[in-house]
Amino acid sequence: MKRTKIVDLVNTTDYNREVCVKGWVRTRRGNKNVAFVALNDGSIVHSIQVVVDIAQFGEEFLKPITTGACIAVNGLLVESQGQGQTAEIQAKEIEIYGTADPAVYPLQKKGHSLEFLREIAYLRPRTNTFGAIFRIRHHVAFAIHEYFNKQGFFYFHTPLITGSDAEGAGSMFQVTTLDVANPPKTEDGKIDYSQDFFGHSTNLTVSGQLEGELGAMALGGIYTFGPTFRAENSNTPRHLAEFWMIEPEIAFIDINDNMDLAEDFLKYVISYALKHCKDDIEFLNKMYDNELLDRLNFVINNEFVRLTYTEGVEILEKSGKKFEYPVYWGADLQSEHERYLVEDHFKRPVILTDYPKEIKSFYMKQNEDGKTVRGMDVLFPKIGEIIGGSEREADYDKLLNRVQELNMSLDSLWWYMDTRKFGTAPHAGFGLGFERLILFITGMQNIRDVIPFPRTPKNAEF
Ligand code: 4AD
Ligand code: MG
Repeated sequence: MKRTKIVDLVNTTDYNREVCVKGWVRTRRGNKNVAFVALNDGSIVHSIQVVVDIAQFGEEFLKPITTGACIAVNGLLVESQGQGQTAEIQAKEIEIYGTADPAVYPLQKKGHSLEFLREIAYLRPRTNTFGAIFRIRHHVAFAIHEYFNKQGFFYFHTPLITGSDAEGAGSMFQVTTLDVANPPKTEDGKIDYSQDFFGHSTNLTVSGQLEGELGAMALGGIYTFGPTFRAENSNTPRHLAEFWMIEPEIAFIDINDNMDLAEDFLKYVISYALKHCKDDIEFLNKMYDNELLDRLNFVINNEFVRLTYTEGVEILEKSGKKFEYPVYWGADLQSEHERYLVEDHFKRPVILTDYPKEIKSFYMKQNEDGKTVRGMDVLFPKIGEIIGGSEREADYDKLLNRVQELNMSLDSLWWYMDTRKFGTAPHAGFGLGFERLILFITGMQNIRDVIPFPRTPKNAEF
């Protein structure tokens, strides 16, 4: 018999028909005569109740049907008499695919801490919480593709292995096939990368932006959506060493259009999640954060506030609040500052623009004042920075100036510089941290809980 997914059964009223379901046992309870098995197949947060007549199957046969076991059930779908569910299944045939010995299976019925579940990340997708989070992740990824596709932007695939440092921040993972214990050396004692796989030194990308700009300068509007890698030693609830980033890049737009796009885009995907992940978001709202739904609705229904970094710093200075990190013009804002502006001062998402050039990347368009650049950060409640972007410096000489000021290597950037020589154009774009968005949409507190297998300092298990 063909398998039916539980998502297609829990909301049906088409009862009294035979169905086949397959899934993992969440709980089993009952008495001498009848067992109630809650079965979940990951298609929806709800489990379906399977009612098993013990005499029919025999106690011995049913013994291994414990939490975590995988079974297939053929039976009659009937209207449930019990509370909290509509349909249930009266089992006619049961096949046991795999048992999960209660003496060793780590994911027993009792509530586990999120910290413990991180240690068993290979099993945690089987919990209601992580099932909900990873289904939301899927739907949001889909919404992102849908949004840009509707805008006529092309999904542009940028390389993961590169020879350049896109953010100029130097926190890169090296990629090499050289023998690290005994690398070949040049005459002056340096590592001889000409003997490395690519003939020069390479690293995992920290951003697809630079290559994305080349795409925009040919296709008009593109977006990337892929993994990025940062070897920052940031052990915070908002940083991963491997995270997914979405980077649209668009020709012929300025920073104001870029802000409009960022705001419209975020509202679109959050609305999409509210519509398509209702059960899962309601579950998380109930279990973890009862302000989650309100917060999501608030963000889609209110305009983001836009102000300059300079204005933002003035507000922070005048706030009279004691921050852990001091604020002054020129300081890189910390998440405590960002959250003060968003949560305490404006009480809505904020887009800060025109940052001091010293704290932003080399490629941002330089303002007339000689001090600031046309960067923009979108700041969200609970998260702080969720998007970072800018209008790009389209002028060859100004860009070259900045590259030289920062002592960056033209050897690895010559092709990027060439775009400003050959048919340069005003353009802008931004990067959205996918996991930060999922943090916001799920109401989770720690970024390690919104990606299936988090990579953080000293942790790359599974
Ligand atoms: O602000 P960032 O560093 O900007 C860029 O990489 C630009 N190239 C984007 C662009 O203009 N195309 O990173 C963009 C976003 C941040 O706002 C944040 O949401 C996320 O990426 N992010 C991280 N997320 C998780 N872990 C980390 N270590 C992150 N670093 C940045
Ligand atoms: Mg940033």
